[in-house]
Amino acid sequence: MSFLGLFHSHTAPPPIGELIHWDPSLSVDNPVIDGEHRAIVESLNRVYADWMAANHRLDLEEELDRLSSLVGTHFANEEDLMTRRHCPTLAAHARDHRDMLREMQVIAQNIHAMPQAKLEAQLLRFIRRLVMGHVLSWDMDARDYLRA
Ligand SMILES: [Fe+2]
Ligand SMILES: [Fe+2]
Repeated sequence: MSFLGLFHSHTAPPPIGELIHWDPSLSVDNPVIDGEHRAIVESLNRVYADWMAANHRLDLEEELDRLSSLVGTHFANEEDLMTRRHCPTLAAHARDHRDMLREMQVIAQNIHAMPQAKLEAQLLRFIRRLVMGHVLSWDMDARDYLRA
């Protein structure tokens, strides 16, 4: 099974151009958190589709701005819920959030110093890590503390 197959084994194959297809199995039973996760997955799919396309049309600066404010609010919302519910993995979880915010900041700082293709590849790698390495693992493991 391919690496991506691991994440798709529970669901139908995603439509072409979609790297991750949202389905209810990814829900943490909290409409706010789910909505934020869906928006992050949409951002991943948007950057992926543009990266795959012959003509790159996505405004990467705008995409990164949108993602930065989305992720900042989202991490704060999760940490607030986990703090109030005494989630035992909060410290490590929040550390992973901080690492990603730092990584996103570095990409933003270099946004004008990089060729478009390299920037897009970096952004795609970052959002894949955010979705697959965090949302689909850390957040799913903490779902009991994130539900509404
Ligand atoms: Fe999350
Ligand atoms: Fe998280």
